[in-house]
Amino acid sequence: MNEEKRRAKILDGARVAEEIKREVAAEAARLKAEHGYVPCLVAVRVGNDPASAVYVRNKVRACEALGLRSEHHELPEETTTDELLAEVATLNAREDVDGILVQLPLPRGVDEARVIEAIDPSKDVDGFHPVNVGRLTLGRTGFAPCTPAGIIELLTREGIPIGGRHACIVGRSHIVGRPLAQLLLQHDATVTICHSRTQELSSLTRQADILVAAVGRVGLIRAEHVKPGATVIDVGMNKLTDAAMAKDFFGDAAPARIEAISKRGFTLVGDVYPSEVAEVAGSLTPVPGGVGPLTVAMLMRNTVTAARRRRGLS
Ligand code: GUN
Repeated sequence: MNEEKRRAKILDGARVAEEIKREVAAEAARLKAEHGYVPCLVAVRVGNDPASAVYVRNKVRACEALGLRSEHHELPEETTTDELLAEVATLNAREDVDGILVQLPLPRGVDEARVIEAIDPSKDVDGFHPVNVGRLTLGRTGFAPCTPAGIIELLTREGIPIGGRHACIVGRSHIVGRPLAQLLLQHDATVTICHSRTQELSSLTRQADILVAAVGRVGLIRAEHVKPGATVIDVGMNKLTDAAMAKDFFGDAAPARIEAISKRGFTLVGDVYPSEVAEVAGSLTPVPGGVGPLTVAMLMRNTVTAARRRRGLS
């Protein structure tokens, strides 16, 4: 490790998310006052995935808090692709619905790609439809996926420069890694994407001014992966159940985490090894309370944007 011991600044994603949500609430209030219109998001959840249930509940609650309308459609685990396509077609046809979100992952046997492609791109507030993916790649107006868009907001509002900086993303998912690469490119970063087949991972990540971990592997990013002073964004959301591991993992913050494990059976952790990385990085997002709240805030923003655009108000 480097000789000089640092303590990374903790980037408070939850605070930035509150700031964005206040702006969205003000925008929604203006739409209502000037046009008598309240934007509406419909979240569709299929099956019994407990994590998805929590995520969707958070999204619906955020709508309520910001003065947006929302509906939560719960479909059974046995739902077929055709049944889900019929649900999407109904929502596409409803004039009062501005945003449609189909929570992923879908149960095995449901054709995820067909379902996403069936969503009207003008209501695709997740930014997953190929039309919106294409528009993002071309730098044209569409919807950017919420987690990558939230990361850009965090960097911008925290005054972390992107232009000309080297950004390294670990993870090539369609939800985070790939769209984030496009957004960082649009902000003039030099972008490297690493993945499970990348050789000599640390030699690439150590060159990054902005390092983003989005793979879903507990503690993958350690001190040796980080350039001193770098900004580290942890998108991982994993369950840690081993109290002995938590002790080393969290350093000073370990007692609270060990208590959480003994009470709930787990504590949420990211892809970054926080006690090590905090001594090398310049700034670091926590898990939880980092990127997660930003995703919800950007979904709210996309929903209001969809409502405005669909009425020719943008
Ligand atoms: N599953 C994990 N993240 C997301 C997301 O941002 N949107 C949807 N629809 N499903 C997800």
